Amino acid sequence: MTSPASTWTGDALAERVLASFEVYDAEFRALTRRFGLSFRDRAWADGQRIALERLLLYTVSLEELLDDVRLSLGDAAGDEMLWAEARERFGRLSDDRDDGEIARSFFNSVGRRARGTVGIGPRTEFVGDEVIPDTTPHPLRTRRYPPQALSAEVLEKVLEDLAPARLADPAGDARKIAAAAEEALCATGGDDEIVALEFVPGCFFRSKGAYLVGRMLRCDEFVPLVLALVHEEEGVRTDAVLTRTDEVSVVFGFSRSYFHADLDPDAGGARALVDFLHTLMPHRREDELFTSVGYNRHGKTLLFRALQEHLARPGARLERTQGVPGLVMIVFTLPSIDVVFKVMRDRFGLPKRTSRQRVREGYRLVFLGDRVGRLADAQEFEGLVLPVDRFAPEVLDELCREAGSIVHVEADAVTIDHLYTERRLTPLDVHLREAAERRDETAERAALLDYGQALADLAAINVFPGDLLLKNFGVTRHGRVVFYDYDELTRLTDVRFRELPEPRDELDELRAEPWFYVAEGDVFPEEWPAFIGIPERLREEFMVRYGALFTAEFWRQMQEQARSRELVDFFPYPESRRLPKG
Ligand SMILES: Nc1ncnc2c1ncn2[C@@H]1O[C@H](COP(=O)(O)OP(=O)(O)OP(=O)(O)O)[C@@H](O)[C@H]1O
Ligand SMILES: [Mg+2]
Repeated sequence: MTSPASTWTGDALAERVLASFEVYDAEFRALTRRFGLSFRDRAWADGQRIALERLLLYTVSLEELLDDVRLSLGDAAGDEMLWAEARERFGRLSDDRDDGEIARSFFNSVGRRARGTVGIGPRTEFVGDEVIPDTTPHPLRTRRYPPQALSAEVLEKVLEDLAPARLADPAGDARKIAAAAEEALCATGGDDEIVALEFVPGCFFRSKGAYLVGRMLRCDEFVPLVLALVHEEEGVRTDAVLTRTDEVSVVFGFSRSYFHADLDPDAGGARALVDFLHTLMPHRREDELFTSVGYNRHGKTLLFRALQEHLARPGARLERTQGVPGLVMIVFTLPSIDVVFKVMRDRFGLPKRTSRQRVREGYRLVFLGDRVGRLADAQEFEGLVLPVDRFAPEVLDELCREAGSIVHVEADAVTIDHLYTERRLTPLDVHLREAAERRDETAERAALLDYGQALADLAAINVFPGDLLLKNFGVTRHGRVVFYDYDELTRLTDVRFRELPEPRDELDELRAEPWFYVAEGDVFPEEWPAFIGIPERLREEFMVRYGALFTAEFWRQMQEQARSRELVDFFPYPESRRLPKG
């Protein structure tokens, strides 16, 4: 095909990519804003639709641009020289933009797809430190308040300025916030005065919650001040005041859906926001923080950059993870960074009857749905290249032997066509075993009961994990139980929960195979206790609290609830942190 504009120069291509990026970015902001409006209107179902649209936006924008590029350039769309030229120009265009690095990630995404890049193309994309423009971005323009006294008046002003809808009781809330802030300052010690009180100029929305994110500066230390808001019929109310780094970290955690951070238009770019968040959660990597506010594709770029840095360290080694090996996934990790790599096997061990396509659907369901603190976010990589000398021999052997169709070794590089990365957790079976060995019954009990709660929470968002074995759940450093194995994950409403029929005679009872008809998708909760592997000592207590999980009735009720489409409340903080009403 002779293409009409095959004369496009690299410069023109770069400008075309930037124009698309700007359209994407404007749409991203518009959807973020609309999500905030859905909170204002308590239009929860609208919010869910908007969240979905925003999650799909990146790929949609990319596809539109690619169609255009291919139509205009024909065969030249993959030309290396052209992309190298475009990269030069794009570098200059993105240099002094606040969102320059996000734009460069976008450029990389387009270029990689157009060229079908495997590994990284240093000439045609931004790699390593080049991802981030040299120019220092403007810091976030925060809202600052007189810090002298953390008085109720000042905090009422904060609420009035930043709350996204009419407040039910600003004065009452402000008194409670002031008391909580005071308590936090006493608890963190020191009589030093607060020298600054400032808030992100806008609001963070997710599901049915909204958050005002602030910090108090004392000496050279930041104390978080995060106000969790809910919108009830009488108006917006402060539901909790979070003042500890670990609490804030859970709110921004990897097992939650991405925030819609609706900021004043002149507040600064995403980098400025992330830098601010970093002062509240210094131990979180920046890629995680970008991802937490919806820039997950750029988060992936930065994660890759972090991985490269860790792989370059002396002695870095990609090793097997602890726990029971998967029948579907080969899972390995790099000890110095808390990330696991999951590569699908060519053939799945018995009794798995799933397909590659089906596994990917499970992961996609998790990406697009609510995660409510119970599902680990996964990043999908294509054409990832890792240095061969960093692999433990047994891991490389297994990859070549069992995933040979998507793992290719050439000279010093291992190319993996497709994999997921996830946060590394302690598998629940390992966690329980270790707690038992230490005779730490408190840790054992807490994790086991939280497993029961995790199943109930997942049911409340219409998710059925499929494989309930303890090895498919992990424990976070905050002690929360999170599910991470999605190959059998389905919507709860797609499963048929059945009671076991009464045996017709003694022979029936003895049969190893079911004597009654079991259709695809039939599930018998009464059978679960026999194989889940709940430690004997804790079985009774577990059954008292969560015995309902082993009845078909419970699951059918949850299905009813899911069908009625009510959005359930989930609070990313413990019940004990919620403020008393009134
Ligand atoms: N996020 C994670 N953190 C730590 N370990 C993990 C993580 N994900 C998986 N693992 C480890 O890898 C093993 C296999 O992973 P996973 O359960 O996801 O794969 P699978 O092949 O689908 O498993 P299954 O055979 O249960 O279907 C787990 O049993 C666990 O030991
Ligand atoms: Mg598993």
